[in-house]
Amino acid sequence: MQVKKAVIPAAGLGTRFLPATKAMAKEMLPIVDKPTIQFIVEEALSSGIEDILIVTGKAKRPIEDHFDANIELETNLKSKGKTDLLKLVEETTDVNLHFIRQSHPKGLGHAVLQAKAFVGNEPFVVMLGDDLMESEVPLTKQLMNDYETTHASTIAVMQVPQEETSKYGIINPEGQVEKGLYNVKNFVEKPKADEAPSNLAIIGRYLLTPEIFEVLENQAPGAGDEIQLTDAIDNLNKTQRVFAREFTGKRFDVGDKFGFMTTSIEYGLKHPEIKDKLREYIIELGQELAPNENKKSE
Ligand code: UTP
Repeated sequence: MQVKKAVIPAAGLGTRFLPATKAMAKEMLPIVDKPTIQFIVEEALSSGIEDILIVTGKAKRPIEDHFDANIELETNLKSKGKTDLLKLVEETTDVNLHFIRQSHPKGLGHAVLQAKAFVGNEPFVVMLGDDLMESEVPLTKQLMNDYETTHASTIAVMQVPQEETSKYGIINPEGQVEKGLYNVKNFVEKPKADEAPSNLAIIGRYLLTPEIFEVLENQAPGAGDEIQLTDAIDNLNKTQRVFAREFTGKRFDVGDKFGFMTTSIEYGLKHPEIKDKLREYIIELGQELAPNENKKSE
């Protein structure tokens, strides 16, 4: 069966970005000029996904509005001949989007469970806005390609520094079925560096079979007293095979302030409108911040 549906959980509290996220979903925070959730929607579409469900919390309106037509704005831009801006505003409206509310943020697993009726009995992908991925073949598409041969759940993973394993779900790999596609013995949520079975960390893309919902319905809260998707995947792996695909492209972690800032800089350095000015600014700032460093290299 073909994978056609994606679920984007966007109902978390976003506490790492307070106060910005007091009244706004963190998925609406822009990287230069585009909300992170738009990058995710674009990855889904370029992978061939046809229907997208966004799981929202209290800050649902701005996300819904972002992907809807804004007649007043469009009329204004049209009358002023601002066709480039008009194109940017219109390009977000032609997407098959659905919304559902997670009334209490009981964890990522619980957010995914809200998609049960939307997904039905099909394989689907889960895409998190915390990670922006850059690769020739979009990571979601890579997972979909794997599914065509494995017909099983496949989770995207990436090597992280050993001292950072406690920030991630980590896999215990058990050999590769082909280059970069691992069998998984078990999944461990946020292990300490000296207890981690590997440094292959789960990043924000999952291809899941619909049996995950049955597991999630019976999943007890785990770390942080939240219903963890990693725990449910570990349980799913006990009844059917779950694979891990190693991502070798570039990952931008926008889930915390530091990653968000560095991603904004890197994307800014590629943005046609500001890249030259930003580059100049960074060089000048570097000289200001570390004048002696620069002298040393002269
Ligand atoms: P995070 O743990 O990164 O998001 O969850 P968070 O809880 O909003 O962030 P902090 O830690 O408080 O800063 C990963 C993804 O899962 C969604 C989030 O919106 C994010 O995209 N999520 C998390 C939900 O949709 N519901 C939840 O109950 C928890």
